[in-house]
Amino acid sequence: MSSLKKIKIIKPDDWHVHLRDKKILKKVLRYTEMFYQRAIIMPNLNKPITNCKRAIAYKHRILQATQINHTQFEPLMTCYLTKETSLKELKYGFLQKIFIGAKLYPNKCTTNSETGINKISEIFHILELMQKIKMPLLIHAEDNNVDVDIYDREANFLETTLIPLRKKFPELKIVLEHITTKEAVAYIEESNPLYLAGTITPHHLMLNRNNMFINGIQPNLYCLPILKRKKHQNALRQAISNGSMNFFLGSDSAPHIYRNKISLFGCAGIFNAPSSLLCYITIFEEMKALKYFESFCSKNGPNFYNLPINQNTITLIKKPCKILKKINLGKDSILPFLSGETLKWSIL
Ligand code: NCD
Ligand code: ZN
Repeated sequence: MSSLKKIKIIKPDDWHVHLRDKKILKKVLRYTEMFYQRAIIMPNLNKPITNCKRAIAYKHRILQATQINHTQFEPLMTCYLTKETSLKELKYGFLQKIFIGAKLYPNKCTTNSETGINKISEIFHILELMQKIKMPLLIHAEDNNVDVDIYDREANFLETTLIPLRKKFPELKIVLEHITTKEAVAYIEESNPLYLAGTITPHHLMLNRNNMFINGIQPNLYCLPILKRKKHQNALRQAISNGSMNFFLGSDSAPHIYRNKISLFGCAGIFNAPSSLLCYITIFEEMKALKYFESFCSKNGPNFYNLPINQNTITLIKKPCKILKKINLGKDSILPFLSGETLKWSIL
């Protein structure tokens, strides 16, 4: 009998992933499918997913690109909010289950957010509807004012935008995506998990801002929200170790081609799909919090989104796993997070 430590959990879902399109989609989707049953697909394509027609077509392209089994993996689509978003379209999309929620990008805050929202008041009428129909709002929670220090953008957003917004719409279901600060942890922890949740990425749990500058600048670790100080990293690690229902898995896997990562004006985003689940289990083990691993990966998310918990299971085994070095893409390539490194856990 093998003495290797094994953990069997309900198959997880990834509540925040970027799959892109065309050639990249075809190359990256297999990793998300391997570890996750469902995933919320971010709508920030070059031509954003702003209506039902685009969402249906994009979902179809994703299903066409699945490798393992067409019926297994379920992409959950989101609508990219603009001030022109039609109420009728949004309501129809949500009630027909085309959209699971809508994504708010503050204008110019991250990749493909040039048509994002300038002032939250521009979309109050949309938020009013979303509160009424219980449609979740997914927020890239960063202040887009260029005068605000990049390390303070999340905390500032909470103070200046989110807290007033929640006073106005107390029953709007909100997910703060990829949280990075102790302020976000504290605010979410004291909120009702029915109305406010946060996703946490593996890289924000594993790293802090020092890691971006060790042995020279590391563009592969540049993402938004940017990696923060160690005390914030520790607050995130503590948050998942307390078993709070307000937090769940969202990898924010965000592939960019290598050339665009290392160029001047390099792109923000970390492609972690090949290792995300293995990173999470490593952290839960380090934090002696493995008993909460399954709820973070597989239960808190569906509970928030009012979806059934998956039936399938997945087994992780404590056996070294070498992360692939790169993905070839014709003349280009994509470098995964932890490229070529070895993690302590594998998938069985
Ligand atoms: C994401 C991307 O590249 O689409 N980048 C990132 O650094 N996380 C966008 C986002 O989620 O902010
Ligand atoms: Zn993202």
